[in-house]
Amino acid sequence: MFQRTVFKQVVKSLTSQSTNKFSTSQCAQRRVAVMGASGGIGQPLSLLLKNSPLVTQLNLYDIVHTPGVAADLSHIESKAQVKGFVGGDQLEASLEGAEVVVIPAGVPRKPGMTRDDLFNTNASIVATIAEACAKVCPEAMLCIISNPVNSTVPIASEVYKKAGADPSRIFGVTTLDIVRANTFIAELKGLDPATVNCPVIGGHAGVTIIPLTSQCSPQVSFPDEQLKPLTVRIQDAGTEVVKAKAGAGSATLSMAYAGARFAINVVKALNGEQGVVECSFVRSSVTEAEYFSTPILFGKNGIEKNLGLGVLSNFEAKLVEEALPELKSSIQKGKDFVANMK
Ligand SMILES: NC(=O)c1ccc[n+]([C@@H]2O[C@H](COP(=O)([O-])OP(=O)(O)OC[C@H]3O[C@@H](n4cnc5c(N)ncnc54)[C@H](O)[C@@H]3O)[C@@H](O)[C@H]2O)c1
Repeated sequence: MFQRTVFKQVVKSLTSQSTNKFSTSQCAQRRVAVMGASGGIGQPLSLLLKNSPLVTQLNLYDIVHTPGVAADLSHIESKAQVKGFVGGDQLEASLEGAEVVVIPAGVPRKPGMTRDDLFNTNASIVATIAEACAKVCPEAMLCIISNPVNSTVPIASEVYKKAGADPSRIFGVTTLDIVRANTFIAELKGLDPATVNCPVIGGHAGVTIIPLTSQCSPQVSFPDEQLKPLTVRIQDAGTEVVKAKAGAGSATLSMAYAGARFAINVVKALNGEQGVVECSFVRSSVTEAEYFSTPILFGKNGIEKNLGLGVLSNFEAKLVEEALPELKSSIQKGKDFVANMK
């Protein structure tokens, strides 16, 4: 139930103009950096963060276009100070003082591609940014959007370990899977999507995406002939968008919404708000996979408590079993990449 309350608050802070205009010092100084801020996700994500009264400093980093994006956003009448940083020479400067770093840098999918096909390009982009974070803002919460998340999160963690930094504040952003599950369940049940909360666990690719409809709030149930296609639709929803965009990229607007929801919840937890829960792909001992997404209770230092799998239906337990081989191999691929880095 508290998850729903937090969600509603996030929606309010994402959308409420009056809150922006009239709230004054309701919270601490909160400095957020967006890496890959000029991209399809980066721009609307930065817009939503600029619109949040909880963000006081917004640093925008990319290899192109950030001066323009920053100038544009800086005219919005909200208190966040916006600064653009462009090119590798300004990477470290963009991270100074950052408490939350959101990373949507990297190439998106085109039709026919899997997320793993992005590995070769995105692995080194994420590793480079993580190296800079480990050096400049090792205490910051790292929210990784860049795909394949099942490998980029282990990459960032291994980079941190190599640099002697603590990898416990590294989070894979899988929120879009939850957002999609909520929407699709609401469609089938005739509910308001904003009142639905369905945890999605595992990872962020194909069969590793595991919606837990048995733990949905409000309680819902589906006959087998509906549950299977619903599960497959949630797992393939990213591909639905990639196909519809026909070569022009993958989900950007819904991802920006989901990324902002996640980052703002992390900020709320930093501000001491209680009961902030989001699913996230993190280092985990919940299953035999070294990283696994489950609902996480967030606190001032990141993970306050991993809430684990909960009670799974037989159908869901089988999905977990089926996901583990792919998850473990994607995790290993990320670890090997860092082990072989010069
Ligand atoms: N986690 C999720 O649920 C989810 C959902 C959708 C997309 N994604 C992923 O997010 C990533 C970004 O997608 P997009 O649609 O915004 O792509 P995009 O190509 O529109 O934007 C990517 C941005 O990253 C920048 N960039 C490239 N190399 C960089 C570097 N070395 N340092 C900093 N910035 C760099 C580019 O200049 C560009 O502005 C992709 O990997 C995509 O697969 C994740």
